[in-house]
Amino acid sequence: FGATRAYHEKVIDHYEHPRNVGSLPKNDPDVGTGLVGAPACGDVMKLQIRVDETTGKITEVKFKTFGCGSAIASSSFMTERVRGMTLDEAGGIKNTEIAKELCLPPVKMHCSMLAEDAIKSAIKDYRRKRESVIPPVSESA
Ligand code: FES
Ligand code: FES
Repeated sequence: FGATRAYHEKVIDHYEHPRNVGSLPKNDPDVGTGLVGAPACGDVMKLQIRVDETTGKITEVKFKTFGCGSAIASSSFMTERVRGMTLDEAGGIKNTEIAKELCLPPVKMHCSMLAEDAIKSAIKDYRRKRESVIPPVSESA
């Protein structure tokens, strides 16, 4: 029963007090937006990161989800986990790590997958944006 209890306490805390819910300005060049869906249930998650250009680290994270409690808990947990990380570090976080931390049962694995997909998608969006805004190196030309 202990594991079930731990699951409830940790998940419920992130569910009842989700961290970093909200939005960042999508068109800000320092912001990357990830929008992903879970084929298993049709739930959707949006996760956004703000990156400090000079350090390459994530300074701010926001999410919104139209998903179940486990998806909310997973993304809330993810936002706390990745703040202060480099993009490579954040992109390396596995959903299994989140699921383990929150003691998610097997049927809820895809909910944590949503959080992993969302951060990866946000990183990709940020990098794509950066490539298109950064002026060519030969600016003096
Ligand atoms: Fe399955 Fe969210 S759709 S509980
Ligand atoms: Fe679909 Fe949790 S995200 S059941």
